[in-house]
Amino acid sequence: MSLILLLHGPNLNLLGQREPDVYGHDTLEDHVSRTRSLAGEFGCDVEDVQSNHEGELIEAVHGARGRCDAIIINPGAFTHSSWALHDALAAYDGIVIEVHLSNPDAREPWRRTSVVAPVATGSISGFGGIGYELAVRAVAARLK
Ligand code: DQA
Repeated sequence: MSLILLLHGPNLNLLGQREPDVYGHDTLEDHVSRTRSLAGEFGCDVEDVQSNHEGELIEAVHGARGRCDAIIINPGAFTHSSWALHDALAAYDGIVIEVHLSNPDAREPWRRTSVVAPVATGSISGFGGIGYELAVRAVAARLK
């Protein structure tokens, strides 16, 4: 069994209530359970962590070192600012997929910079929850 860490950053615990016109009506739990069940079809277990705290996300990335085959991460607004998260991901050896529900490039100018993208294997944006499904498929293809 391969292991995927599904990591969610700040404010994503409010999915379903938070700006549904931008992020949709599905809750975080909806996304996590769909991701977990698709990953299962590819023989992957999913561990999930959501935190509003930068340090907790960094520690989750450290905890994935040598243990998880891949990290699927929606870093929320830390995408645009957290060089500490960038460095933690740079020190992680496995596959990293950056996922965004919305398309940050089509929004405010400050969202157009991702400090996570340079240390990701690849990024998926703008497809809502389907992004997590695409990420699982990308991980499974890479692991094959
Ligand atoms: C987001 C996009 C970010 O710009 C924003 O800060 C979020 C959510 C997305 O999934 O579209 O919190 O990562």
